[in-house]
Amino acid sequence: MRHLTTADIAAFDKIYRLNLINSITGYKPANLIGTTSAEGTTNLAIFSSVIHLGSAPAVLGIVTRPATVPRHTYENIKATGCYTINHVVADFVGAAHYTSAEFGRDESEFAQCGFTPAYRDDFPAPYVAESRIGLGLRLREELPIHNGTVLLVGTVEHIYLPEEVLRPDGTLDLQQAGAVCISGLDGYHQVAPLASFAYARPGQGPQPK
Ligand SMILES: Cc1cc2nc3c(=O)[nH]c(=O)nc-3n(C[C@H](O)[C@H](O)[C@H](O)COP(=O)(O)O)c2cc1C
Repeated sequence: MRHLTTADIAAFDKIYRLNLINSITGYKPANLIGTTSAEGTTNLAIFSSVIHLGSAPAVLGIVTRPATVPRHTYENIKATGCYTINHVVADFVGAAHYTSAEFGRDESEFAQCGFTPAYRDDFPAPYVAESRIGLGLRLREELPIHNGTVLLVGTVEHIYLPEEVLRPDGTLDLQQAGAVCISGLDGYHQVAPLASFAYARPGQGPQPK
């Protein structure tokens, strides 16, 4: 088995290390973050770092990269306090990836990448009309990480999803929703369900649902 240490990782070529460490966490969710600048320009960016932080109340995190270059998503969230999280589906995976290009502050990735901004229920941030699942969040806190990245913690104020994707127990049929996931910084995958288990209790072993 290959064994890599801190020293090995530090010695790798930059791109090799970036590919390795971006792949090492396994599959990640694929989402587009929709925002608007203080001047009213819409912005869209693919993020793989959406994480669950709690469900009562519903709290999610996203990690934004160090502000060594302009980070429009981060600046817009700071300016307006609101953002949307929109699931990427297979139909528009290429266009979703293209939002990661460094477009200028006055260029909207919605127009540049072929997405339609949708405004719902007076929420100030734009949803992606082409997405089947969209969430509206309000920034609650900002946690700086020692390496310059920032964890943005937001509360979920709105969820929009197709009726047929929502199961009676509240779980989502993500395959039916056409959801894809990400590996590294450039791989997109469709996943098939493997198994579902009942709540795990000691002494019972894994119980199929
Ligand atoms: C697959 C993939 C996942 C990404 N995930 C993140 C992420 O979680 N956080 C982040 O800050 N940037 C992430 N990026 C980079 C942003 O999409 C990219 O920096 C984009 O230009 C940001 O746009 P903005 O300046 O309009 O916010 C990712 C890029 C790709 C291709």
